[in-house]
Amino acid sequence: MKVHVKHGSLTNTATEVLVVGGYEGEKTLGKPLQALDRHFDGQLAAMRKTGEFQGKINQTVLVHSRGSVPAKRILWVGLGKKEKVTLDSVRQAMGTVVKRVRQTGARSFTSSLLGGETPRHSVSDLSQAMVEGAILGSYRFTQFQTNQSDNGKPVDSLNILASASELNRVKTGSHRGAIIAEAASLVRDLCNTPANIMNPARVVEQARKIAKERGVKLTVLNRQKMEKLGMGGLLGVSRGSQEPPQFIILEYAGAGKKDKPVILVGKTVTFDSGGISLKPAENMEQMKADMTGGAEVLATVLAVARLRAHLNVIGILPVTENMPGGRATKPGDILKMLSGKTVEVQNTDAEGRLILADGLSYATRLKPKCIIDIATLTGACMVALGQHAIGMLGNNDQLKAKLKEAGEQSGERVWEMPLWDEYFEQLKSDVADMRNIGGRGGGMITAAMFLSKFVGDYPWVHLDIASTDWSSSDRPYIGKGPTAIGTRLLIHYLLNQAK
Ligand code: BES
Ligand code: ZN
Ligand code: ZN
Repeated sequence: MKVHVKHGSLTNTATEVLVVGGYEGEKTLGKPLQALDRHFDGQLAAMRKTGEFQGKINQTVLVHSRGSVPAKRILWVGLGKKEKVTLDSVRQAMGTVVKRVRQTGARSFTSSLLGGETPRHSVSDLSQAMVEGAILGSYRFTQFQTNQSDNGKPVDSLNILASASELNRVKTGSHRGAIIAEAASLVRDLCNTPANIMNPARVVEQARKIAKERGVKLTVLNRQKMEKLGMGGLLGVSRGSQEPPQFIILEYAGAGKKDKPVILVGKTVTFDSGGISLKPAENMEQMKADMTGGAEVLATVLAVARLRAHLNVIGILPVTENMPGGRATKPGDILKMLSGKTVEVQNTDAEGRLILADGLSYATRLKPKCIIDIATLTGACMVALGQHAIGMLGNNDQLKAKLKEAGEQSGERVWEMPLWDEYFEQLKSDVADMRNIGGRGGGMITAAMFLSKFVGDYPWVHLDIASTDWSSSDRPYIGKGPTAIGTRLLIHYLLNQAK
């Protein structure tokens, strides 16, 4: 979707659909709407009175102008109660708006700034949220549908109206919003693409495209190199698959050499069948999205490069399939990890931690400022937190606080779980340094506990996005399927760091 920012007013703008916002519980129209309503013989005020438009979040009313103003239609969208409006209300409202605009058949529309400037929300934040909501709300994955005419025409252009004094701030915010939403859309594409196409080699191809962006360097380690280094975790998981594993390192240099990098490590299992500990058939197709963490790391590096953020970031992706082939790792096998530690694999379906462990050990060798890993790691996360919170565990309070803040800003919120030493008891093995499952209880915690043994003393946070990565229903700006949750969180965090 192309986004343009224009100077103009509600009464003089020619457009297919003109979007205006309204709060819940307001009895009268604000000044700009009053001016507009004069051309509508007071229809808008009347709809407020009768309760036809209450301003509830995501409520919409469409009014045809029949030539009374240059805009063909007015789309009134509810933002909820004024004191409760957040940036996410704005994203939701815009997600609702683009779908309503599509129903009219219009390909382009114009919106006034939704939700006024407050001490909590600047004009640039509001316009950023608007663009994020519009682009993400219009996302569809139709690449594999041969009859494109069934899908209708996409809405491909948005104009945002701004006053002269707001113009520059709206431009800054909408530019940022577009890049962030495009990053999340890329993640959705990568996760929607089935595993017969999006295999480890294709992920490398995607990384190659990203490395064309300014300041991004790509290194890919092949199996031979992994063997030489001793990446027993990644190699062990990949044994059951015909597809060779890959280890991708993307380095973005946006600051001086002395600035230590923030390292992002993303679980990239292009398909998780469970391996020999095979998963049940129901919903197994969703395991094509077990590469969400890695896709998000790729997209995040791309976004900070496009925004030319002033910091150094390294993205690390251990990439593999988890399959039950004849040479697959078996329950009871012992792997020697990159760090030198040994792990007894008691369940081959707990593969994410095995490949991440090697990714984290590799990260420590690059002397990072901090390490953040992101992964669709445990079904236990789904049980504990459901569809709306990312599980967060880590060893550094300051880093956790920063991610919490970025979560509130981006609408991709995190919730902390404890990482107490006592939980390590559950990971003890009789024959190796540890085992890869923690038995009954606290599955999200024991998985993180496992990872913590591979990060040394570096500040580190683990984000578990299992279950939040996939939406079972359509939401205002998140469709059914891959949500890309975590992408906007990571980008917001990095942009805050770069300030
Ligand atoms: N990729 C799965 C976790 C997952 C489950 C992600 C559901 C998204 C939705 C992971 O590799 C896995 O299978 N974990 C096991 C670990 C267990 C065997 C200790 C799980 O959580 O069941
Ligand atoms: Zn698994
Ligand atoms: Zn998995």
